[in-house]
Amino acid sequence: MDNCFFKRDVISIEDFSREELDYLLNYAAEVKQNPFKFKEVMKGKVLAPLFFENSTRTSMSFKMAMHQLGGSVLDFDTDVSSLKKGETLADTLKMVEGYFPEVVVMRHSKDGSAQLAADILSVPLINAGDGQNQHPTQTMLDLLSIKEIKGEIDNLDIGLVGDLKYGRTVHSLAIALSKYKNVKIYFVSPDSLKVPRAFLNELREKGVIFFECGLDELQNVAQKVDILYMTRVQRERFPEGPEGEEEYHKVVLKYCLKNKMLEGARSNLKIMHPLPKVDEIESSIDASSYAYYFEQASNGIHIRKALLYLTTTK
Ligand code: CP
Repeated sequence: MDNCFFKRDVISIEDFSREELDYLLNYAAEVKQNPFKFKEVMKGKVLAPLFFENSTRTSMSFKMAMHQLGGSVLDFDTDVSSLKKGETLADTLKMVEGYFPEVVVMRHSKDGSAQLAADILSVPLINAGDGQNQHPTQTMLDLLSIKEIKGEIDNLDIGLVGDLKYGRTVHSLAIALSKYKNVKIYFVSPDSLKVPRAFLNELREKGVIFFECGLDELQNVAQKVDILYMTRVQRERFPEGPEGEEEYHKVVLKYCLKNKMLEGARSNLKIMHPLPKVDEIESSIDASSYAYYFEQASNGIHIRKALLYLTTTK
């Protein structure tokens, strides 16, 4: 397959076929195995990372990825930028483009902001998370991690647990899994944070096999899946004001995966989490053979190196 990522925006996981995702996963695996082969491939090229929302992993791994490819990274800090003076997103993007980056990575709190940015820019835009909408590069690294753990993505039973209403990582991952064969998804959440109905209908239309489960079924699900993908309550996505506060206080601390729930789990179960985790996984699990979330996060570098290279190089 030719490089199907060249000059392409990465807005939503929906935009990529299974073949294209497999191409990227294979490429990222090669990048991971042969770091020296890629250490100069972006020499002279520039990444503009625009993070309008907090990030540790996505921001650091994109910047480190660019450094490891031999490229340079523009410095942009929302706290000291002219956004504080009221400059618009559109003007900021037009201005950044004038400094000639080959690729722009953007995180923004507004759903749809990634598409808006891509429409303004003439260089590839990689969505590093837009509101509660999509986080495609997280999904790509999740797929890379699942493939590493299990050897394939087909034929797996996967539990997605936590805030399934506001969590963009689970939305992106569920869509990606719909492209693979015979995957069964168990959605486990508090009642008020269930997967939105319209989204479930979308999955149904794609032929995804899924089950909706209450929190009382967490242990049961943990014992029968290959991957248990935990997520935190996305406090920052709740509506502002007393209504949102009330909704948040009803669910906070309502679920936590405990060590004893894993008795009877498959020996090769792996627990994933996009991180940051707050209080939804008992800390003693970190040291168990089930925990995979830190390895998962470090896969971010490899997938992002592959993406930076492929979107900018024929
Ligand atoms: N998983 C993830 O997106 O982490 P950050 O918010 O720290 O980038």
